[in-house]
Amino acid sequence: MLSISGLHSHYGASHILQGVDLEMATGRIAAILGRNGVGKTTTVKTIMGLVAPTGGSITLDHTAITGWAPHRVARAGVAYVPEGRLIFPDLSVIENIKVAERTPAKAWPIPRLLELFPSLDERQRNKGSQLSGGEQQMLAIARALVSDPKVLLLDEPSQGLAPLVVRELARVIRLLCDAGVTILLIEQNMKLAEVVADELHIMVKGRIVYSADPHRFRAEEQQIRTRYLTV
Ligand SMILES: Nc1ncnc2c1ncn2[C@@H]1O[C@H](COP(=O)(O)OP(=O)(O)OP(=O)(O)O)[C@@H](O)[C@H]1O
Ligand SMILES: [Mg+2]
Repeated sequence: MLSISGLHSHYGASHILQGVDLEMATGRIAAILGRNGVGKTTTVKTIMGLVAPTGGSITLDHTAITGWAPHRVARAGVAYVPEGRLIFPDLSVIENIKVAERTPAKAWPIPRLLELFPSLDERQRNKGSQLSGGEQQMLAIARALVSDPKVLLLDEPSQGLAPLVVRELARVIRLLCDAGVTILLIEQNMKLAEVVADELHIMVKGRIVYSADPHRFRAEEQQIRTRYLTV
């Protein structure tokens, strides 16, 4: 489905991604964990075409999308929910979704999205600024889904959310996966990654240095935490 090989990228003279390799099979959930500043967001931005890669390749269903502009990557079937959600505060829930709907959604039309997110259904006419953090996160996901993506990139969706809302987020992520969406989840929240992901990857200095399934990850969690995650 999504295959990343030897991916490099720079911000000016700073060499951020230093050879990222990641193979994502269709219908799977992969999580990338890592300390602050290791290049997690840069990875999703490079996949999305928001940062130009300086080496390596990205292929989606055997089509090379390396270096494509963001709108082409989106049209090819990749959607991105950025860190911090970036909801339009003055637009209503429905308007926030509609701005992202280029052609009428097939897989995820607005009524299906409102069914998936009951809290948004109740707040259809509320403005973005009137929503709670959890509702804003659900809205950001709804806005990404309306483009009918094959692959969904989620950058730290649990950030700032209460445990109960994180649980709801886990339910939604699983449900999307069951509906056939392949998901790349960037997380600081190890628990969320552990409960939803089929595979966990750890990034250090712009490279994936460790990959495991949740079973092995849990068994090795203590060592992983001290070696790669705690500061
Ligand atoms: N636009 C930019 N220009 C220059 N440097 C940047 C830019 N964006 C990020 N960086 C730097 O690149 C490195 C990787 O940043 P990135 O945002 O990918 O990290 P991250 O793993 O997502 O971290 P966090 O957990 O804090 O979100 C950091 O050192 C950061 O300071
Ligand atoms: Mg980040």
